[in-house]
Amino acid sequence: MKSVILAGGSGTRLYPVTQVVNKHLLPIYNKPMIYYPLSIAMLLGIREILFIVNPEDLPAFQKLFSDGSHLGMSISYKIQHKPNGLAEGLILAEEFIGNDNVLYLLGDNIFFGHGLIDVLRQAKEELEQYGGACVFGYYVHDPERFGILEFDETGRVISIEEKPKKPKSNYAVVGMYLYDPEAVEIAKSIKPSHRGELEITSVNQVYLEKGKLRVKLFGRGFAWFDAGTHDSFLEAGEFVATIERKTGLMIGCIEEIAYRNGWIDRSQLLKLAEHLKKTDYGKYLIKLAEEGK
Ligand code: TTP
Repeated sequence: MKSVILAGGSGTRLYPVTQVVNKHLLPIYNKPMIYYPLSIAMLLGIREILFIVNPEDLPAFQKLFSDGSHLGMSISYKIQHKPNGLAEGLILAEEFIGNDNVLYLLGDNIFFGHGLIDVLRQAKEELEQYGGACVFGYYVHDPERFGILEFDETGRVISIEEKPKKPKSNYAVVGMYLYDPEAVEIAKSIKPSHRGELEITSVNQVYLEKGKLRVKLFGRGFAWFDAGTHDSFLEAGEFVATIERKTGLMIGCIEEIAYRNGWIDRSQLLKLAEHLKKTDYGKYLIKLAEEGK
């Protein structure tokens, strides 16, 4: 499985902050926002990543991640010239995806919760066995802002509605999707919505109509942030800070995950920590190397 991470878009809801700085490079507490979705892919054991980026931001992403080899990974980039919608990333990633399954992630979504990776791993196994797609639902109090699931009396999903005026449930589809390679052709076949974007909800609806969409619901123990507004951005940072201070363990530390996955060794980890050593982040990596896994 490969992963495509969307890091383009216009970030207008975070203006004036994102007028000249890409949203995904802003700090959620002590690390760039983009580390969080990247770490989800890494925790699932995915080493091949494609970032979809705006033309003007490509150099910054390349400076941050280069080709990923320092993490034992392969990281590449594809430019999206205009924010034409979440589903366009699938079309842009056609060559990268090839015949593989893909974990498709929104670069401004942050997930945390015990068992999260187990749920994802199970969804990955089902995808490998049956093909199709899988989306994840999360209970929200403000369903008008999201893609919302509708269930029949047996709990089966019967529709997904983008930003509904009259939501049919409180379950929002989060920015994390699993697709078989057919997603690319489906993305090519859909029409732009009334707001002129290729909506990921339209892709998911096609899978639903084909009877090939699985849905998994996250329970109360999970935290999900779409860090695209001033309040949710701050909330996500405060959440990460609280958990990290309480436990002394980091959320979304990509060097740690690469090391624990066995993709880099102790000396490589120490090398990565070298220029960070004045920070708690760097000290954390050094401690990790000293303790052993
Ligand atoms: P959104 O938050 O829906 O859009 P946005 O980032 O452009 O922000 P705003 O609504 O404030 O203007 O996008 C979700 C994620 O997908 C985010 O990480 C940016 C990314 N994205 C792309 O990479 N390409 C796109 O065409 C769009 C619309 C979003």
